[in-house]
Amino acid sequence: MSKKLEGKIALVTGGTTGIGLATAKRFAEEGAHVFITGRRQAELDKAVALVGNATGIAVDSTRLEQLDELYARIGKEKGRLDVLFANAGGGSMLPLGDITEAHYDDTFDRNVKGVLFTVQKALPLLAQNASIILTGSTAGSSGTAAFSVYSASKAAVRAFARSWILDLKDRAIRVNTLSPGATRTPGLVDLAGPDAGQQQGLLDYLAAQVPLGRVGEPVEIANAAVFLASDDSSFVNGAELFVDGGQAQV
Ligand SMILES: NC(=O)c1ccc[n+]([C@@H]2O[C@H](COP(=O)([O-])OP(=O)(O)OC[C@H]3O[C@@H](n4cnc5c(N)ncnc54)[C@H](OP(=O)(O)O)[C@@H]3O)[C@@H](O)[C@H]2O)c1
Repeated sequence: MSKKLEGKIALVTGGTTGIGLATAKRFAEEGAHVFITGRRQAELDKAVALVGNATGIAVDSTRLEQLDELYARIGKEKGRLDVLFANAGGGSMLPLGDITEAHYDDTFDRNVKGVLFTVQKALPLLAQNASIILTGSTAGSSGTAAFSVYSASKAAVRAFARSWILDLKDRAIRVNTLSPGATRTPGLVDLAGPDAGQQQGLLDYLAAQVPLGRVGEPVEIANAAVFLASDDSSFVNGAELFVDGGQAQV
């Protein structure tokens, strides 16, 4: 069977753990060369070894000068980008009364500013018919106690896609939002702190909210990213694809 991303050049931001790592692996299995970013060099080295056809570049997506360096290097090495998965992001939990300026800045820098400039600075490199995938969340369209800043940041991401498909229409570049539900990643379990029992308790609680009765695995989000990255989704544009076991649909 032919591979879905044969010969494509892809970038997965935040590709060293969780959803980003699983997606980088799937993209490489489908024939893409994958650039992976993350802030920790040791994690990058491990991820590149695991993914195979990959290049790791240490980048903090909230630092614009580092994004410039990233794209200069991709341009020099490959000359173009066919798939951009803006995945780096995350959040922490604080109820309304305890929200601080630092909490707000950290969340919006990672999820909104980082995504905006990751996409904007990629524009000169993006090929005709390129696919941009933004990472939303079920939290962007439903409420969660102590998670309002994260929710608002993911609603902003989803809103970006609606307008960017208009800004990019002359270039036939597609932009879609992939919105995972609770997915078993380091970023999710860390919300419960370092205790393994509390982490399992969080996973059990979240699984009970999902119509399929379990949390997602990173590869299940990655498979949906392959669909959005490939020509299988050639007429899907501006959509929000929930991969959530039905959680946000009830
Ligand atoms: N897991 C879920 O249940 C879930 C649900 C809905 C949406 N999401 C979204 O899916 C995405 C991935 O989440 P995950 O659960 O897989 O997270 P994760 O396991 O914490 O992985 C996050 C990845 O992003 C990198 N990263 C974080 N901040 C970065 C920055 N400023 N610049 C560059 N890289 C950065 C991390 O590496 P470094 O720390 O080394 O930089 C890591 O590679 C996030 O946008 C998250 O909000 C997750």
